[in-house]
Amino acid sequence: MLPSVLAKSFKCIVPNVWPSRNIASLSALSETYQMLFKTCRDFAEAELKPNAAKYDKEHLYPGDAIRKMGDLGLMAIAVPEELGGAGLDYLAYAIALEEISRGCASAGVIMSVNNSLYLGPVTHWGTDKQKSDFVTPFCNGESVGCFALSEPGNGSDAGAASTTAKDGGNKWVINGTKCWITNGYESKAAVVFATTDKSLKHKGISAFIVPKPINGLELGKKEDKLGIRASSTCSLMYEDCEIPKENILGEPGFGFKIAMMTLDAGRIGIASQALGIAQASLDVAAEYASKRMAFGKPIMKLQSIQNKLAEMALRLESARLLTWRAAWLKDNKQPYTKEAAMAKLAASEAATFLSHQCIQILGGMGYVSDMPAERHYRDARITEIYEGTSEIQRLVIAGQLIKEYELN
Ligand code: CAA
Repeated sequence: MLPSVLAKSFKCIVPNVWPSRNIASLSALSETYQMLFKTCRDFAEAELKPNAAKYDKEHLYPGDAIRKMGDLGLMAIAVPEELGGAGLDYLAYAIALEEISRGCASAGVIMSVNNSLYLGPVTHWGTDKQKSDFVTPFCNGESVGCFALSEPGNGSDAGAASTTAKDGGNKWVINGTKCWITNGYESKAAVVFATTDKSLKHKGISAFIVPKPINGLELGKKEDKLGIRASSTCSLMYEDCEIPKENILGEPGFGFKIAMMTLDAGRIGIASQALGIAQASLDVAAEYASKRMAFGKPIMKLQSIQNKLAEMALRLESARLLTWRAAWLKDNKQPYTKEAAMAKLAASEAATFLSHQCIQILGGMGYVSDMPAERHYRDARITEIYEGTSEIQRLVIAGQLIKEYELN
């Protein structure tokens, strides 16, 4: 059964003929996932796809769509129902996020950051009070959260954080700049990583919940980005920003581990976003190839185009299976650090490849903004960068492999 929040919002009927053209492996999953897929696909087709080009062109935050996604339970998929979430699992999250991103990759990352990077750690490590103040109000799409780890001086080397949190008796005083923060403008709270003792390196880092707006916080300029232009990205500049003592998240000094574990889950989200972009690219390419005539026939009949489409489908479906496997492992409380990194690496590289090939198949029509191909190409690029670059994913995979071989 669908959780009440989704069932109430949408009267879903599983169709007799399932759209296997798009996600063949879905038919092997239970009805809950199939209904969720259908709900998200219908929503994305009706609300996101027709508006995505405008959001992109005008850098418009899709606030109405995000609120509707909140009504559908999509902004807090894995949060328990008693806290206001949909009470589903990460496989559901992966399926839903792919469909949302297929419609609009910006809506996808807004959803991903709220679900994985913000609500994930606060739901897992938060106290009851933190959950009631900082989880429940962030479940319905009215408020979104963000995750502040990167700094001007450290991105991949996350343990080198230089933002400080000073113990001020009954408060913490935060100083430092966080950068590349998705949802930075709209968010009403941030999970901020700061060091209480730099000499302890990563063991001196703690996580804090910092509401927004707040005295001592200034926002940097909204970054003018290549893609995902409807989501905001900016710096958060903290200067003597005071937060209550109780706003530390988890144990002092446990912040780096919170960041790493949160990113493991986040990478399943970005993998799913990348799958959505890749699927959208394949859809555009295949549809165009079936109609575009050259040498007296639709170009889909040409072997060079067929080779491209075959390679695109192969990379997409392989990455989807890796992503679903990572989600399944997480849902079943198995280690999944390596698998999440593999999923993110494969799906983001697939998105880059498919969107590139999509433009190639469309030719000139792929290069202009009358068609969505060029947007998919621009949107795909970030999936190889944020939440750990492809190079970092390879390091994580190798690190886990080495551990496995050392144990044997
Ligand atoms: N789960 C739990 N613990 C973990 C872990 C994981 N996945 N990965 C590492 N750790 C632990 C280690 O066990 C170790 O613990 P001990 O100190 O107890 O031994 C500790 O963390 C340090 O581990 P490493 O020595 O491996 O750490 P490192 O400094 O070498 O860094 C890294 C490892 C993988 C490179 C890490 O820094 C990393 O993931 N970097 C990329 C950061 C990133 O993804 N940034 C994206 C920012 S978020 C974003 O993109 C914003 C957005 O808005 C979308």
